[in-house]
Amino acid sequence: MDEKNYEDFISTVSHELRTPLTSIRGFSQTMLASWEKLDDESKKKFLKIIEEQSNRLINLVENMLCVTKLQSARDNLILKDVYVKPVVETVISVLKNQYRTNSFEIDINEKTPAILADKDKFQQVMTNLIENAAKYSAEDAAVTIKVRPESDFVSIKVINTGLEIEPEDYEKIFTKFSRLDNPLTRRTQGSGLGLYITKNIVEKMNGEISVASCDNTTTFEVCLPVSNIETRMQCNQ
Ligand SMILES: Nc1ncnc2c1ncn2[C@@H]1O[C@H](COP(=O)(O)OP(=O)(O)O)[C@@H](O)[C@H]1O
Ligand SMILES: [Mg+2]
Repeated sequence: MDEKNYEDFISTVSHELRTPLTSIRGFSQTMLASWEKLDDESKKKFLKIIEEQSNRLINLVENMLCVTKLQSARDNLILKDVYVKPVVETVISVLKNQYRTNSFEIDINEKTPAILADKDKFQQVMTNLIENAAKYSAEDAAVTIKVRPESDFVSIKVINTGLEIEPEDYEKIFTKFSRLDNPLTRRTQGSGLGLYITKNIVEKMNGEISVASCDNTTTFEVCLPVSNIETRMQCNQ
C-alpha cells in the first residue's frame, strides 16, 4: 500500500471505529448518570443499542483482520473437493435465525459436481453474498440460490429482489469500504468490506464473481472450477 492509500485507509478505519465507540460511550454515560430516572424500557433500549454497536465493532475488526490476512502471503488456501449444497444449507440455517422474515430457497441441479475450493473460505463467500441478499432487500423478500454445473466450472447465483444496483456501481461495490448511498443501505450497518473480501477469496480460488441488476432483481454470480477437471476431461474423451 502506498502512503496516500495507507493514510486513506487509516482515516476510514478510524472513522468507522469512532462512530460505534462514540455511541457506546454516549449511551453508557447516559445510563450511569440517569439510572434512577430511566424506566426499564429505556434502559433496555439503550442496552440494545450498546449491544448492536458492539457487534458492529466486532464485525469491523474481524473484517479488517480478514483483509490484512488476504494481503499476506501466509494466507494459504487449502483447496479440496467441496460440495456446494451442504455449505449453502449450513449458511442458510445460520442466517435464518437472523433474517426471520426473509425466505431462502436453494435451486440446485442434483448432478452438480464438487468444486475445487477452500471449504471455510467458500462458506465465508456464501455467507457474505446470501447475507447481503437478505439485508439489501425487502424484509419479507425471497432469496434464491441457483446452482448449475457448466463445462468446467459451477455457477452459483445469489438472487434477490429490491433496489437495483446501477451499472456504474458494479465495480465500486467490490472495493474496500464502499457502501452505496440508498435507503436500504442506510437502514443497515456494515463496513463495506464484505464484497471486497469475497472477490479476493473467489479470485484466489481461481474463480470469478460478477453482478447484474435489472428489473428490481440483483444477481451475484460466482463461478468456481470443478475439481479434478483434467481427470473429468480425460474420462469424457
Ligand atoms: N444484494 C444486494 N442488493 C443491493 N445492494 C447490495 C447487495 N449486496 C451489496 N449491495 C451494496 O453493496 C455495498 C457493499 O456490500 P459489502 O461489501 O458486503 O458491504 P456491507 O454489507 O458491509 O455494506 C452494500 O453496502 C450495498 O450498498
Ligand atoms: Mg455485506
